[in-house]
Amino acid sequence: MFGYDVGISGGVTSMDEFLAKFFPAVLEKKRAAAATESAYCKYDDQKLQAFTSSLYIAALVSTFFSSYTTMHYGRKATMLIAGIAFCLGVIFTAAAAEIIMLIIGRVLLGWGVGFANQAVPLYLSEMAPSKWRGALNILFQLAVTIGILFANLVNYGTEKMARNGWRVSLAIAGLPAIFITLGGILLPDTPNSLVQRGKHERARQVLRKIRGIENVEEEFDDILIASNEAAAVKHPFRNILKRRNRPQLVISMILQFFQQFTGINAIMFYAPVLFQTLGFASSASLYSAVIVGAVNVLATCVAITLVDRIGRRWLLLEACIQMFVAQTAIAIILALGLDGNYMPTYLGWIAVALICVYVSSFAWSWGPLGWLIPSEIFPLETRSAGQAITVSTNMVFTFLIAQVFLSMLCTFKWGIFLFFAAWVVVMFLFTYFFIPETKGIPIEEMDLVWTRHWFWKNYVPHPDTLAHPNGIPMEAMKTSKLEDGAANGHKL
Ligand code: BGC
Repeated sequence: MFGYDVGISGGVTSMDEFLAKFFPAVLEKKRAAAATESAYCKYDDQKLQAFTSSLYIAALVSTFFSSYTTMHYGRKATMLIAGIAFCLGVIFTAAAAEIIMLIIGRVLLGWGVGFANQAVPLYLSEMAPSKWRGALNILFQLAVTIGILFANLVNYGTEKMARNGWRVSLAIAGLPAIFITLGGILLPDTPNSLVQRGKHERARQVLRKIRGIENVEEEFDDILIASNEAAAVKHPFRNILKRRNRPQLVISMILQFFQQFTGINAIMFYAPVLFQTLGFASSASLYSAVIVGAVNVLATCVAITLVDRIGRRWLLLEACIQMFVAQTAIAIILALGLDGNYMPTYLGWIAVALICVYVSSFAWSWGPLGWLIPSEIFPLETRSAGQAITVSTNMVFTFLIAQVFLSMLCTFKWGIFLFFAAWVVVMFLFTYFFIPETKGIPIEEMDLVWTRHWFWKNYVPHPDTLAHPNGIPMEAMKTSKLEDGAANGHKL
């Protein structure tokens, strides 16, 4: 649902029939720009950008409700709410006769995305055994990229329709919505969520089923301990602001900021528009967007295979270097090659190739890890609140990029790519110094990562100085598994 939305907007907003119906001024400007203005400014229109961005504002608001539902009604129920809101949104947008219907529809879709992005990463991380947690969690991102690619393909097909192509593009969003609604009905909830809501026996049953073993008492006890600690915390949002939760909070929020300031959504939302700026015809633009979408999916599979082997940090750092090189090269090509509205076709294709280099590195790093790391570093007591803050921060910056990118492109021209490249340098440094490796650490034992980090240990006291609510010294509970982690070649 999230991916389909990211991918569909750019294509729909570059369709003349859609523009003529809802944004006639943009269509006029686009036609006039073809003759006069600079190619960079064709689509610069606040209302048009609001069509894309409004969904993310709605998603942002919804996360504060979805954090409540994930905590009190479970991950499963939250997915069901997401599916229903999204189905309604699809009906409104695809049937829109007036702009107001379009807006109501976008808001409902935003609610769907907000609820789903809250529940799904948590669901995956909690269902997964810790040694596969990274790979399984990245299925979320894989689904996002498949959604984007699927949307690109649909746009490519519907653009050729004589009438109502945009309606078909918007209506097909109903497919993923039906899947998640069915999932919300048929799937079991996570053991962690069941324990948190007092359903111990059902939690044991689910654990037996998903682990495929009869004796699940050890893992059940870990979850129970974490759940008891969580129950002692009455105000998770207040608690999350405490000093000892600072590393998780800072890292989760900053990851979202950085993820969006890689500039990825400038490409994902507006690829067809961007390719038209590069002088491609309408269908060649959509075709190029399909190529980029396919690279995005394939590179996400690379992340799935590598994340639990070489770890999170290495992927993040390597990607910064690759993104920096590709973005700088794109800026140079645009600066030298785009003359008014014209760019030689071979340079256009080199730009597409460089965009693929850039997108692939994002897809095996900041894309999936921006969601994986926050879902695994919060303790159970602040996990729902932490995820809500993660999703809403992501949505704030997604909104910002959606709202201002076309205007920034108009003002900065090729410099926009240097702007994003500069942020990539900052991201590299932050990752190097402040993001510890979390590969293979059981989710209930994540605290130990902070207590051993050169900087974060100033914020998180060592476990043996903490009294456990059940009277068991925390250190005693934790050493055995940490040693397991170390034996598996894990380095903190
Ligand atoms: C980001 C989206 C982005 C997508 C691209 C996700 O991780 O959150 O904003 O559009 O990756 O594949």
